[in-house]
Amino acid sequence: MDLHDDAAGAKEHACAEIASCESLEDLDSIRIRYLGRKGALTLLLRKLGQVDPEARKSAGKLLNEARDAIASLLESRKQELRERKYASDLSAGSIDVTLPGRIFSIGKLNPVLRVMDEILQIFVGMGFTPVEGPEIETEYNNFDALNFPPGHPSRDEHDSFYVDGGFCLRTHTSPAQIRVMKSQPPPVRVVVPGLCHRRDTPDASHLMSFYQIEGLYVDYDVSLAHLKGTLAAFAREVFGEETRVRFRPHYFPFTEPSAELDISCLVCGGKGCRLCKRTGWLEVLGAGMVHPNVFRQVGYDERKVTGFAFGMGVERLTMLKHGIGDIRLLYENDSRFLKQF
Ligand code: DAH
Repeated sequence: MDLHDDAAGAKEHACAEIASCESLEDLDSIRIRYLGRKGALTLLLRKLGQVDPEARKSAGKLLNEARDAIASLLESRKQELRERKYASDLSAGSIDVTLPGRIFSIGKLNPVLRVMDEILQIFVGMGFTPVEGPEIETEYNNFDALNFPPGHPSRDEHDSFYVDGGFCLRTHTSPAQIRVMKSQPPPVRVVVPGLCHRRDTPDASHLMSFYQIEGLYVDYDVSLAHLKGTLAAFAREVFGEETRVRFRPHYFPFTEPSAELDISCLVCGGKGCRLCKRTGWLEVLGAGMVHPNVFRQVGYDERKVTGFAFGMGVERLTMLKHGIGDIRLLYENDSRFLKQF
């Protein structure tokens, strides 16, 4: 057996057949006969194993070259035959070139995801790094480590879907704070986008599954002024230069002090209207200074480090930005609605 001769012979035959082939169907059967699973070249390649090692290298090279040459000839002949068929169909009138083309509708990102990207970009511009956490969290990270002890009334507002073995679907992105701080020493400056789930009944402003973006900044000299400056800069970028912000005292277990951030009403500018319920302000997110108990849980020295955190609902921000009155519209997949963004 001489593989060299066989390879050269197979290549020669194949080339001749391809050159004289006149139809795409015949061309395909040539391909199968030479390169298919039981094709001539394939069988020769399989025999390589039986050739003694000395000769194997050169025979292998030759066979591979033959295979590649046949494959490329097949391809170029296919192109020629296709063009020829197209030209003859065209002149025979079986292709109507005056028919309008097919219209493809091109999809695009849901407005929620676009607002999420925009928000992340703003924080990246301020030196925050995006990271992610898992949607199935330990109850410990989701609650206990964030200073919600078992039985704490704040847990009720975050009623979750529980998974056996001490896990639950995360009710907020805050547990990522625990993961990040446990994995590295300060300074920490991260934003965490992600889907959250709560055992809630959907209505115009609630969904069972929704996106949040968490922010966390920890270092040795972080103050409430940094928090306010950061969030004010963020609000002006998303909602416009003229936007004013205020902190309203609030309670979160994992921050002290805690606040909610309001922006001046996007419709009335602060005079009072229906959207802002005559208050002149719209609530956009929760924030605060990281609670010392949280630092203790992750092994940071709570006497030395300080930090701020914030968390926002991305659907809520999308609704404010685009003037959408019902959160459910965002996920009904009604293209008449989605086309507007
Ligand atoms: N995790 C809170 C929630 O889902 C939002 C939040 C409030 C996050 C204050 C924070 C924060 O990081 O500091 O309701």
